[in-house]
Amino acid sequence: MVTVTVNVNGEPRTASVPPETTLLRLLREQFNLTGAKLGCDVGDCGACTVMVDGKSVNSCLMLAGQADGRDVLTIEGLATLERLHPLQEAFEQLGSLQCGFCGPGILMSAKALLDENPDPSEQDIRDALAGNLCRCTGYIKMIEAIQGVARADGARPAPKSA
Ligand code: FES
Ligand code: FES
Repeated sequence: MVTVTVNVNGEPRTASVPPETTLLRLLREQFNLTGAKLGCDVGDCGACTVMVDGKSVNSCLMLAGQADGRDVLTIEGLATLERLHPLQEAFEQLGSLQCGFCGPGILMSAKALLDENPDPSEQDIRDALAGNLCRCTGYIKMIEAIQGVARADGARPAPKSA
């Protein structure tokens, strides 16, 4: 067994797991965070996408031990108690998703993209979602939602420096 401590959605969580345990299984089975989904389990579908130290990661491909001491953000940490994340609001308003299976991974990939590139081109968005498979909605409404959030962020005045 290995003991792993991960800062998940801002809170330190610890578990002892067999060394072959993936980050996805650690999140789902030990921490009861079932937003990240187990789809293919081999890195093809993106349903398990979370952010580790600010980068999107297929959590089915990462060992729990590799996440030890790192910051992990899951879909459960995206909204606050008061309001949804702007990406969640935009996806809801545009009907960008039809199921809950691909959605969490797609939203985490979109967040990772906008964190790194607040003004992405359509191709940037398509590239960012290339590892996330959706079989029901198609990608046009997702791209429009992400573009809308990017534009809204760009429209906000830059914070004044002190
Ligand atoms: Fe991880 Fe499919 S479950 S990429
Ligand atoms: Fe993505 Fe259904 S909305 S697979």
